Amino acid sequence: MAESSDCRSVPLPSFHLLVFLLSFRLPSSVFYLLRVHVPVLLAEVLSVLKPRKGAAVVDCTIGLGGHAAALLTKIGPKGCLIGMDLDLANLETARTLLKGKNVLLNHSNFAALPAILAEAGVEKVDAILADLGVASPHFDDPSRGFSYRRDGPLDMRLDVTRGETAAQLLNRITESDLAAALRDLGDEEDADRVAALIVKRRPIRTTTQLMRIVCEARDFTVERGFGAKLHPATRTFQALRMLVNRELPSLQQLLRVLPDCLAPGGTAAIISFHSGEDRLVKRAFRDGPYADRSDEPITPSDAERKENPRARSAKLRWARL
Ligand SMILES: C[S@@+](CC[C@H](N)C(=O)[O-])C[C@H]1O[C@@H](n2cnc3c(N)ncnc32)[C@H](O)[C@@H]1O
Repeated sequence: MAESSDCRSVPLPSFHLLVFLLSFRLPSSVFYLLRVHVPVLLAEVLSVLKPRKGAAVVDCTIGLGGHAAALLTKIGPKGCLIGMDLDLANLETARTLLKGKNVLLNHSNFAALPAILAEAGVEKVDAILADLGVASPHFDDPSRGFSYRRDGPLDMRLDVTRGETAAQLLNRITESDLAAALRDLGDEEDADRVAALIVKRRPIRTTTQLMRIVCEARDFTVERGFGAKLHPATRTFQALRMLVNRELPSLQQLLRVLPDCLAPGGTAAIISFHSGEDRLVKRAFRDGPYADRSDEPITPSDAERKENPRARSAKLRWARL
């Protein structure tokens, strides 16, 4: 998900309230009114994964626990939910929401799924969900450095305990590698100009500094940039975030190990927000050892798109062993 002008913040939901709302299949506008987190394509995810009582399920991107809470109500107390996230703050939010002996949460990359299952003493599971990308709180907290709208250190790491920040990466990368990343991960049409000006103006330390440089490289004033339908820095920020967090390599590794982690008849479902990610998922599901798969991606209804701007570019694909 790239930052959009109407990205909504999500406060801590209560598990019982969430379960109550989920059980009545209320429209997501009711979730918004009650300021409860709205998971993307929730009804579609449940209908694809068909989690039954007692099933073992994995949520690879636990986030704020929205999908996981719904899965948990379906599998019941005899089921088992294993979840993970790179982001400690999101993991804590989910931990508060999803209490129970049958919930195991890990601060971990989903690329390490086989090791996580082995540690939990689980060989294979019935369903695996991954809802890729970032969550709204990432954009809302200026100290995380994800947003061109909020001044802060240029960090962008999902896992703040390790790795290079966006500023460190930006200040050492070659101009040609940067231009290639802006093109491949951000679909940035002015990639060469943006990369050249970034390299000329280094060192870059803050989100505002970067946003101003991108506006200048793309012949936007800062004021005109904020008035544009798509802010001129959106694609650069998205590409940089994907590069910092090695999002495509992690997804490739997850796709490689998925079939070994699923029980016979088990289903994997992946929601992506980026064309490069969707291409990887489509190919892996087509070429993998699956008995059945989605022919076309499932996309949000008009109503969901209207109510939840975050859902607009979501694509759900599934594959069954
Ligand atoms: C779109 S949010 C998930 C929202 C969640 N489905 C919900 O209903 O609240 C994506 C989450 O995945 C996490 N994430 C992204 N890449 C990851 C990875 N490689 N391994 C584990 N977690 C990851 C992010 O930190 C973020 O919290």
